[in-house]
Amino acid sequence: STDRTFTMIKPDAVANGHIGAILEKIAASGFKIVAMKYTQLSLRDAQEFYAVHKERPFFGELVEFMTRGPIVAAILEKENAVEDFRALIGATNPAEAAEGTIRKMFATDISENAVHGSDSDENAAIEGSFHFSGREIY
Ligand code: CMP
Repeated sequence: STDRTFTMIKPDAVANGHIGAILEKIAASGFKIVAMKYTQLSLRDAQEFYAVHKERPFFGELVEFMTRGPIVAAILEKENAVEDFRALIGATNPAEAAEGTIRKMFATDISENAVHGSDSDENAAIEGSFHFSGREIY
């Protein structure tokens, strides 16, 4: 069966004009887009989406950043999607991300790191359904 992951092109990368280049890299890496939307997270959306981080010192900053402007949310399909996509985006901190990864190429810093990628199949399903109904997945 084909696996899915969930991604967001974050407000920094959208504002910096990187949507096209990031989608091109995603497609060139063999991921098929099965759902996609241009949207903006509300405060409540961001607090709920990042609830696992709510005790972290950077939670307030994270919520403020993720609600600052529009994002692109998408569900991607590929064999081994979660792991392969995390390899494609690179380390959370772009300073530590490998050459050629999306974060190395397009991220600003550890907090404004251009893209999200689900960390497990379970979270991919939860995060995908946070943003998309079954009828929005093709
Ligand atoms: P991501 O791994 O996609 O989801 C959690 C986000 O929290 C992470 O990307 C960063 O945007 C942010 N984050 C993680 N660690 C830090 C940190 N030390 N300081 C600020 N933001 C962080």
